[in-house]
Amino acid sequence: MRPYEGECLMLSESAKSRIVDLFPRYPDKHSVMLAALRVAQEERGYVTEEAMGEIAVLLEQTPVQVYETATFYTMFSLQPLGKHVIQVCRTLSCALVGADGLVRYLEQTLGIKAGETTPDGLFSLKTVECLAACGAGPMMQINDDYYEYLTGEKIDRILADLRREGRSPLASGPFLIPLLISSPP
Ligand code: FES
Repeated sequence: MRPYEGECLMLSESAKSRIVDLFPRYPDKHSVMLAALRVAQEERGYVTEEAMGEIAVLLEQTPVQVYETATFYTMFSLQPLGKHVIQVCRTLSCALVGADGLVRYLEQTLGIKAGETTPDGLFSLKTVECLAACGAGPMMQINDDYYEYLTGEKIDRILADLRREGRSPLASGPFLIPLLISSPP
């Protein structure tokens, strides 16, 4: 999963255009930072140093400002990641119902430590802060999907599904935005 020698790590012209097209939606260029980093990460799967430099120029910020933002949020990675990025919540509500044991189980099952990627490039494992599913812990996010009320057995099934199909039906959701109640029942 390392970049190959000679690989261009700059933003593509289309990625730069996408970022510039975002400008009218924000009050100033600095406010585009998170969206721009997301574009960069979508393009390559992680945010390269070169992309951060280009974002700094586009947004008229210093490279350090871009780096600070990219390293503050766990949703951005500065390293190449696996195909399936597993993020386990370790914040209090999930910790109380076994998040630490879950991390150990995943480390054992995948043969890697949190922060690492499996040698076949299939899975990366990270621990993160609250993912706003506190009532359904222990839980983890894999790419854009949530998996809740986890057990060792459920994790085995999820990993097997992802290896076999690339997706798992055990993902939670789809989540619905609560409807505003306009009149009393
Ligand atoms: S504490 Fe785990 S999702 Fe909030």
